[in-house]
Amino acid sequence: MASHNLLLLPGDGIGPEIMGEAKGILNWFGKRGIASFETETALVGGASYDACGKAISEDTMKLADQADAVLFGAVGGPKWDGVPYDARPEAGLLRLRKDLGLFANLRPAICYPALADASSLKRDVVEGLDILILRELTGGVYFGEPKEIVTLENGEKRAVDTQLYTTHEIERIARVAFDLARTRRNKVSSAEKRNVMKSGVLWNQVVTKIGKEEYPDVQLEHVLADNCAMQLVRWPKQYDVIVCDNLFGDILSDVAAMLTGSLGMLPSASLGAPDPTTGQRKSLYEPVHGSAPDIAGRSLANPIAMIASVGMALRYSFGLGEAADLLDKAIANVLATGTRTKDIAEKGSNAVSTQEMGAAILKELESLAR
Ligand code: NAD
Ligand code: IPM
Ligand code: MN
Repeated sequence: MASHNLLLLPGDGIGPEIMGEAKGILNWFGKRGIASFETETALVGGASYDACGKAISEDTMKLADQADAVLFGAVGGPKWDGVPYDARPEAGLLRLRKDLGLFANLRPAICYPALADASSLKRDVVEGLDILILRELTGGVYFGEPKEIVTLENGEKRAVDTQLYTTHEIERIARVAFDLARTRRNKVSSAEKRNVMKSGVLWNQVVTKIGKEEYPDVQLEHVLADNCAMQLVRWPKQYDVIVCDNLFGDILSDVAAMLTGSLGMLPSASLGAPDPTTGQRKSLYEPVHGSAPDIAGRSLANPIAMIASVGMALRYSFGLGEAADLLDKAIANVLATGTRTKDIAEKGSNAVSTQEMGAAILKELESLAR
């Protein structure tokens, strides 16, 4: 059995709590002889800043580069509000994405049958939902230069962020969108704002061209990003794969999270380009949510987004699709029994802790594998 080398970066806030449950899942697959993992753990975010004055150290970057995959918890929190901009916790995550070339961020929003009433939207709107937001992750306004605050002659300040995309960046994310759509319901919705942004005009042109020339069998539609946000809460089941830039993808995926019941339910995979000789791609798996400072340290966090991110690692990095299916089934079955952390619990009903949810999923895995 091949052994996979995983770097664990728990981070801040609820990060270490949910990573604890992810580790339990990895250990279970190891114990069962389904997969073998060698793990190493390192600091990132505020925890790393406190230890070495940087949101991620060079040593940790090296470990991430050498690992078969990275599992990431969450970073940030009010404790680090005053640290220099380049050393803020989030900079550690952004550097990992950029330096590892993780341009394709898959954020699936699936409404588990048992959670159709946990969403703030009506059951009818979310029941059976299975959409995928594909977010471009290494370009756009997150990384465009200049990015600065300058003081003008009159003493006023001016802040600049730069939204920037090249043809190549749009082409490669478009291809990922069309390829994924072919494995699903064969539809791509490309969201941009071509009505006000030059980058939106180019995005629209390039996605159209790739669709026409390389994927004529896949249905392609274009939607303005603001309308897309509205459509996501009006009738999300019209979508299959939504492809969009870095910033729109950040926002649309938080919206989509609430269709599934909670931000604590959404996993993600961030993938690089396949190596031309080995075919291997760099990868990082993390929940879509943040460090949730408002509930950190109280065992209230829902670990499912983190655990389902382990499932995505099994599927996309290790070729263990069946193991990933087993894990998804265990999550669905546990939810079907009514076991809920506070964020998805029905009003007035008892909620379980982070650790109890992790233990329930492990127990269900054990009984499914029997
Ligand atoms: P957040 O995602 O941390 O929390 C938003 C809300 O969702 C909070 O009420 C929180 O309690 C709830 N929530 C989030 N995850 C949950 C879970 N697993 N279970 C139950 N409830 C959950 O966003 P925020 O409060 O805007 O940001 C807090 C910090 O996290 C900021 O510093 C931000 O930059 C950072 N952040 C980090 C990441 C990341 O590391 N990938 C992502 C988003 C935000
Ligand atoms: C996310 C987060 C990050 C982002 C932050 C923490 C840098 O919100 O992964 O969704 O904006 O990309
Ligand atoms: Mn976000």
